[in-house]
Amino acid sequence: MVTTEQGCSKRITLTLAAISDVEFLVEIKTNPNLWPYGNDNSPDKGIVRQRVTERIAGGHDPYKQYIIQLNGIGETIPIGELHIYVHKEGCKSWQFGYCILPEYRGQGYATQASKIAAKLAFKDWGAHKVLTKIAAVNTPSIRVMEKLGFIREAVLRDELFWNGGWIDQYQYSLLEDEIHRLEVTSTCNG
Ligand SMILES: CC(C)(COP(=O)(O)OP(=O)(O)OC[C@H]1O[C@@H](n2cnc3c(N)ncnc32)[C@H](O)[C@@H]1OP(=O)(O)O)[C@@H](O)C(=O)NCCC(=O)NCCS
Repeated sequence: MVTTEQGCSKRITLTLAAISDVEFLVEIKTNPNLWPYGNDNSPDKGIVRQRVTERIAGGHDPYKQYIIQLNGIGETIPIGELHIYVHKEGCKSWQFGYCILPEYRGQGYATQASKIAAKLAFKDWGAHKVLTKIAAVNTPSIRVMEKLGFIREAVLRDELFWNGGWIDQYQYSLLEDEIHRLEVTSTCNG
């Protein structure tokens, strides 16, 4: 089977991270301002650096770490990250998450990146289900999922502690026979 590891649209490219990207990723993953509702990473840069390095050096499988790059004329600009990994091996489900640097938000880039990743998972890695978990107050990320036709399949009650109180987390997913929804619902090109 031919395995495709990268993908692109007209405006962005998802490129598998290299060792030279480690510091860029450490800065993104440990910056609390970029993740207002938290993420799964330690705030300790040393711990995150080691984990990111091991994952990249380990050949990315089954955890794939991407740099989201803006396609420029003769250059590419890193504007964020997307990670996608096997959620449940036997169930062929993959979970993903993402972050776009603030100056590049609101231009459809997370939507495009998620669309590329979901297509790779279904078409090249044999995924049956692709999912993501989003804080119920994370309106931009919820909007990304809705634009792509993902289904809100679960509410994880009081799953996160944020801003002094408990908040819900939503689980959004798409199944392999729903891949057409990526084309029907999304408003982004590519
Ligand atoms: C979530 C995130 C990745 C979105 O990236 P992005 O590139 O701006 O996303 P897109 O441009 O593809 O889509 C964002 C949508 O949310 C909308 N939006 C943004 N802020 C909003 C708000 N406060 N209220 C309502 N809608 C909002 C945008 O208008 C856009 O929708 P539209 O295309 O219908 O206009 C980005 O905000 C981010 O990196 N957040 C921090 C990390 C994070 O929360 N990651 C997700 C963890 S699950």
